[in-house]
Amino acid sequence: MKPKDALTPRILFVCLGNICRSPMAEGALRAGAAARGLNIETVSAGTGDWHVGHPPDRRAQATALAHGIDISGLRGRQVDPDDFHLFTHIVAMDRENLRDLKGLRPAQGTAALLLMLDHLPGREGTGVTDPYYGGDDGFEAVWQDIAGAVEGLLDSIAQDQRRVSG
Ligand code: 4NP
Repeated sequence: MKPKDALTPRILFVCLGNICRSPMAEGALRAGAAARGLNIETVSAGTGDWHVGHPPDRRAQATALAHGIDISGLRGRQVDPDDFHLFTHIVAMDRENLRDLKGLRPAQGTAALLLMLDHLPGREGTGVTDPYYGGDDGFEAVWQDIAGAVEGLLDSIAQDQRRVSG
């Protein structure tokens, strides 16, 4: 791997089903990184396997699209212990996801394990609400949390990159 590639942040967002919160986060981060001109790779996954190969929930797709982001092409995948070597950052949507990820993390895993809302001022330590069993309006509130946290995450990554590149 070239040195430039070694420095590219690779971010994995993780929720339970990988059809609502984490694909919205993946879409929001990809768009936010492009808007800032940052080279960041991003993917999402679920701790569960029910939706492997499925597109995002139609409500998540509609909410992202209302914000100009098309996530219809994403497909569900399940988090894998190898992900702790493949990604630089693994971002859990809630505390249960974080606990499950800690259980899955190999001893030599190198990825930084983070909680999504630790990047949204005032919401540190809390989880992004699971909107799956709620109504359509819950998805917009979740989008707002995710979009805010993505901006905080991008701030912190941009700061790290400035530090690395001097
Ligand atoms: P997500 O929401 O974790 O934000 O993708 C869920 C989607 C599906 C299920 C649970 C949560 N499910 O039980 O199928």
